Amino acid sequence: MNNNGFKFSSSGQGIVSGQCLPSDNEPEMISLRPERLADYIGQGETIETLKIAIEAARIRGEALEHVLLHGPPGLGKTTLAHIIANEMGGRLVITSGPALEKGGDLIGMLTQLETGDVFFVDEIHRLSKAVEELLYPAMEDYCIDFVFDKGINARSHRFRLKQFVLVGATTRVGLLSSPLRDRFGLFRSLDFYDQADLEKIVNRSARLLDLQIDPRGAAELARRSRGTPRIVNRLLKRVRDYAQVRCDGRISKSAVADALRLEGVDSQGLTSLDRRYLQTIIDYYAGGPVGIEAIAATLLEETDTLVDVVEPYLLKTGLLVRTSSGRKAASAAFSHLGYPVEQ
Ligand SMILES: Nc1ncnc2c1ncn2[C@@H]1O[C@H](COP(=O)(O)OP(=O)(O)OP(=O)(O)O)[C@@H](O)[C@H]1O
Ligand SMILES: [Mg+2]
Repeated sequence: MNNNGFKFSSSGQGIVSGQCLPSDNEPEMISLRPERLADYIGQGETIETLKIAIEAARIRGEALEHVLLHGPPGLGKTTLAHIIANEMGGRLVITSGPALEKGGDLIGMLTQLETGDVFFVDEIHRLSKAVEELLYPAMEDYCIDFVFDKGINARSHRFRLKQFVLVGATTRVGLLSSPLRDRFGLFRSLDFYDQADLEKIVNRSARLLDLQIDPRGAAELARRSRGTPRIVNRLLKRVRDYAQVRCDGRISKSAVADALRLEGVDSQGLTSLDRRYLQTIIDYYAGGPVGIEAIAATLLEETDTLVDVVEPYLLKTGLLVRTSSGRKAASAAFSHLGYPVEQ
């Protein structure tokens, strides 16, 4: 137990990880996904930009420009790809950077696309160089040049493609090469959701799941969801179970607080991994600055998990500071974790 009264589990972040878990693909969770731009809550500017671009493409009878979506896990990138396909009246064909191992994998998928289809490439920063280069003419001119054989026998064949829309998603836009980035007409970064939007998402999901939640319960759940819709929905399901077994089924503020204490989610929505991360900087490195590799080694965690999943929210809430010499715990982190605040 630490001085906040939370037990630390060694099992990473569990249900409060922003990353996709198998349970997120259950039909009940999928039913919570907004299907149209009009149902999408939050990300005001991104939605407005997409609305205008989709409307303009429709008026001109052309395909939408290719869209690159960037942001931490669980903020709605895949959801937006579904929505774009729905709004454009096309199909959604889904793949991911690591799944497209060879050029042939990409060609196989691109040649199946119809005009107006949305080709969604998740984790697009993980495309291999060879596949990425095939994608350039596909994005620019809707064609691919496929080379058979090698040396003097080499022959190339040009495939014409239908006008599709590429939607790329990435948690790490910095790892994208600039030729690839430049070929997207629309580039939007999704940011963590604010309290008001998260409350709307809680209430919408509760309505869809036929749950009774009072306003203070909704506010508490929103506050503890790390600014992430995926976590809102997951915690809501967990609190529903708790309320059914321990209370009268109605989700109140105290039911939320009690249920989430059992899950190791604290009053600011930090998970055990978030807290261990900050405590490592404070306990082992005198509050920092310290390099990410050193923190990862001490925590026995992957650097990528820390950078993609843990750090964005800590930076956003001001608990962590990034300096040129490394990561530092902010004084808010000291006080939140019950340490004397550094002067
Ligand atoms: N604006 C929103 N309003 C309501 N629910 C949302 C919204 N955005 C996302 N969600 C919910 O959050 C869940 C996670 O969103 P999504 O799968 O789109 O995240 P992601 O950004 O693709 O994450 P990852 O990087 O892990 O792939 C969705 O199933 C959906 O129900
Ligand atoms: Mg996704």
